Amino acid sequence: MSTSTGNYRRTGVAFLGCGYAADFYGPTLPNYPELEVVGAYDLRRERAESFTAEYGGRVYGALEEVLSDPEVEIVVNLTPTTEHYAVNRAALLAGKHVYCEKPMTTKLVEATELAELAEQRGLLLSSAPATVFSRSAQTLIRAVHGGTVGTPRLAYASLDMGPLAFMAYRDWQSARGVPWPYREEVGNGCVLEHAGYLLTWLTAMFGPVVRMSGQAVTPFSDQWEGVVDDVAPETSFGCLHFADGTVCRVTIGWAAPADKSLLVVGDQGVLSVEDVWQASSPVTLRRRVATTGRDTGYLGEPEQLPFVLPPLEYGYDDEAHDLTVSAGIADLARAVRSGERPLLDTEYCLHILDLSIRLATARSEDEAIDVPPPSATRLWGDRYRGPVAASVPR
Ligand SMILES: NC(=O)c1ccc[n+]([C@@H]2O[C@H](COP(=O)([O-])OP(=O)(O)OC[C@H]3O[C@@H](n4cnc5c(N)ncnc54)[C@H](O)[C@@H]3O)[C@@H](O)[C@H]2O)c1
Repeated sequence: MSTSTGNYRRTGVAFLGCGYAADFYGPTLPNYPELEVVGAYDLRRERAESFTAEYGGRVYGALEEVLSDPEVEIVVNLTPTTEHYAVNRAALLAGKHVYCEKPMTTKLVEATELAELAEQRGLLLSSAPATVFSRSAQTLIRAVHGGTVGTPRLAYASLDMGPLAFMAYRDWQSARGVPWPYREEVGNGCVLEHAGYLLTWLTAMFGPVVRMSGQAVTPFSDQWEGVVDDVAPETSFGCLHFADGTVCRVTIGWAAPADKSLLVVGDQGVLSVEDVWQASSPVTLRRRVATTGRDTGYLGEPEQLPFVLPPLEYGYDDEAHDLTVSAGIADLARAVRSGERPLLDTEYCLHILDLSIRLATARSEDEAIDVPPPSATRLWGDRYRGPVAASVPR
């Protein structure tokens, strides 16, 4: 039930799942005083207790208690990805609006079923990621739409996290000391978990993806013995064609050294963001300038664009990223109060999920190449002993 404070109504929110990711939400909630944390539930009660002690609200003893609480309008689903479908479904059946962590489900057919259920019941269903609301994203998107680089033609987008296999991921903990659930993350795979972070920015700039090809690979598949039985692809390369004609080369993964940059090439210049995982990563413009002679440097001096939004007041203490997470709940709450659709509307989220799954499982046809003989050049040395089967991605 919404409560009135001053001149705005507060929207009651309950959290389901109070693990690692919940510590990104809790500290950023005060940016949105229109959200009221009514309470939290976790199968592991102590996690709901530590969450509410830190961020407010009451501890629920069972899912049914949350779903029958009239003060709860929005359920925020932060349970493990494999639980999303069942938990989202239960919440919708109980008449709650749902904001779910990404990916909304692991299968598009399940998400589509949830979307239909929400539609039938007059409820809203929305999903992370919400980094598209960051001041970096908004500044970049407005610059592209405002024609700062003319017509966008090409984009290079990377979300390479660094090679997870060689990191101390077993030691990572959230602010409340919840360990990073690496078995789930490695089992689901980086691409399914992270693709949405880039895809939301790209589709906001260029419209939906109309055609794509891609390849998912697992370069360090030998490193995961004893961690998971079935390793999901570690990296995907994609070529995305957008409705406005822009083509994007995208890589997402945790095999290559970190590179989270995004470059938009237009016919009048280039826009770039160094790190799409930092809400305040600078947005740089280089305008096309006239060249003379054999000069190939056709871009002027870099100009940092002024941000179109102020910084958020409350963040979390984490150098790795600043993901604007609670902005997605605020977007949904605004829609609940106004009766309009959220910006992260169900159909939009389904498109992002569809693309994420396609990228995570991408198997574009390899073109066969006529292979020259080993003697063709000594440059090959003894690395090349004749045609070998291309390594097949898992
Ligand atoms: N780990 C990250 O860095 C990160 C970042 C952003 C988003 N996410 C996403 O957030 C979601 C949660 O990830 P996490 O890292 O917090 O996982 P986690 O395992 O740390 O936390 C999940 C919590 O949900 C609880 N839980 C499981 N089933 C439940 C149920 N049916 N009802 C209530 N509680 C239940 C578990 O006890 C656990 O405390 C995932 O979808 C993940 O993709 C994770």
